[in-house]
Amino acid sequence: MCGIVGYIGKEQAAPIILDGLAKLEYRGYDSAGMAIAGEDHQINYKKAVGRLKVLEELTHGGETMPGTAGIGHTRWATHGAPSDVNSHPHFNKEKTIAVVHNGIIENYIYLRDYLMKKGYEFISQTDTEVLAHMLDYYYKGNPLEAITKVMHRVEGSYALGVLFADQPDQLFAVRKDSPLIVGQNEDGCFIASDVPAILKYTRKVYFVENQEVVRLREDHMHFYTIDEEEIHKEPTLIDWDANAAEKCGYEHFMLKEMYEQPKAIKETLMPQNNPRIRGDEITIEELDMTDDELRAIKKLHIVACGSAYHAGVTGKYVIEGLARVSVEVDLASEFRYRNPILEEGSMVIVISQSGETADTLAALRESKARGFKVLGIVNVVGSSIAREADKVMYTWAGPEIAVATTKAYSAQLIALYLLAMKLARVNNTVTKEEYQKLLCDIKLLPDQVELLLNNKNHIQKFANRYIGAKDVFFIGRGIDYAISLEGSLKLKEISYIHSEAYAAGELKHGTISLIEDKTLVAAVSTQEALYQKTISNMLELKARGAFVLAVTNEDNKAIEKEADYVIYIPKTNAYFTNSLAIIPLQLFSYYVSLGKGCDVDKPRNLAKSVTVE
Ligand code: M6R
Repeated sequence: MCGIVGYIGKEQAAPIILDGLAKLEYRGYDSAGMAIAGEDHQINYKKAVGRLKVLEELTHGGETMPGTAGIGHTRWATHGAPSDVNSHPHFNKEKTIAVVHNGIIENYIYLRDYLMKKGYEFISQTDTEVLAHMLDYYYKGNPLEAITKVMHRVEGSYALGVLFADQPDQLFAVRKDSPLIVGQNEDGCFIASDVPAILKYTRKVYFVENQEVVRLREDHMHFYTIDEEEIHKEPTLIDWDANAAEKCGYEHFMLKEMYEQPKAIKETLMPQNNPRIRGDEITIEELDMTDDELRAIKKLHIVACGSAYHAGVTGKYVIEGLARVSVEVDLASEFRYRNPILEEGSMVIVISQSGETADTLAALRESKARGFKVLGIVNVVGSSIAREADKVMYTWAGPEIAVATTKAYSAQLIALYLLAMKLARVNNTVTKEEYQKLLCDIKLLPDQVELLLNNKNHIQKFANRYIGAKDVFFIGRGIDYAISLEGSLKLKEISYIHSEAYAAGELKHGTISLIEDKTLVAAVSTQEALYQKTISNMLELKARGAFVLAVTNEDNKAIEKEADYVIYIPKTNAYFTNSLAIIPLQLFSYYVSLGKGCDVDKPRNLAKSVTVE
């Protein structure tokens, strides 16, 4: 949530900040603002409600804000509606200290009252403004001292960029529990919430740890603890493909990322230099566990949010089915507050694309605090979850920019399949033949996904018929229910059409009353043993007027007699069908959203990385 960019160096800062913010706009896009150190120890600033392009136009691409040091922000509103006054940067009264913030200051009411008693006036509804006034309260000419004093007083999460008018030759970056990196090239130093913002300028980045402060100057950076002690840090070289954060001719990032799924699956199966399938063996080196230790796992707790949670639901079916290890799946936002029972022999798996989701991170910390080992299945290298988990299994999907996840979700499924197969192998719960078949089928998935993607035209045509839909339902049994959850989320988040996913047998226990003439129901039916059961549920719905779209295996031609429209997926192992069934559902959502004229990559009210609870 919220994106921060800062620059100090030889170049003009404003165009670099705007360019960086454009790469971070997926993090929040209610409003944007910039503060640039001007001449005569003044800070120039501009803020604008709406998308970043409003700020770009207002400043002529940054030209009207000259200066070589500055900070910028794109906002996802938490405290106070999107408005000019609530937009960042926030200032002290004299506008000599500018702050941009990502996170939530939890004790801001207490601090605001404290400062008001000291004569400070507040003009916004944000929690951030308290930081600007607190800095003013403590600032006696030494920015580092003022910043660390503030850090000692505030509670909550923050990634900050701070600019002092009387110190135009330095910028400050501060972090606690919200993501922040800094980077450097020959011309200057950068602050950013995420790598894509500065990838164009530098690949040499430093991950700022919790409660650290960075002083950035034109040609160097210094790192400090909250107690002002200087610390040494090693840079990380980012080896992402430069095109990773560009659309490369695709109309949307979501479309590009859908098309990157075969590659994401391949890379997750066979990471470069460290393939996870070696001959007949599955090797997940990152687990760093012997077969005996793996056999000792009695229960897995999978904890995640949104689509990552849906991947976890699939994981439960696959791991329990193949390895006979009991799996509990929790929404991260519920897990930490329900006092979960974690027994000896349990292991916790957190799944996250961004590696920064606040609830997932909190679940990880809760599990560790109770003495349990946590495996993170994470996409963003070096993210908070990746750093705090005991073990990390990366999904090598590459940077994902569209708010609606596609390729990261597909890669998460693969990581879970590998884990299930590994456990099945050591637990001896599948025969040699079954195991060989699994190996063979998993390797075919990238090509099968590609085939489905290349066959998109009929899905686009079908989707165009549902641009005006009011409600859409997704149903399935077992593993097909897991994919229904994800299909439904994809549709609602990017097309704003109300949609629900139900276990196929459950609809008649109440929800069937919502079915009206021509209501679209997508029935996913990929489990041969359950074909007939799902058909019965389809018929119940058709009898009440529903239009039934079936997503099924290519050999299930019998379904044509019952369904109104059929989308086939290539034949694969029953445990892997989610990887194929999701493709037409993603395409369907994409084309409905496109047809409706929605902002596919940046749907309303959302943000890519949810760093608040
Ligand atoms: O970065 P994470 O995987 O932890 O994010 C979890 C959810 O916020 C995310 O999957 C969200 O539901 C997506 N918008 C779904 O497309």
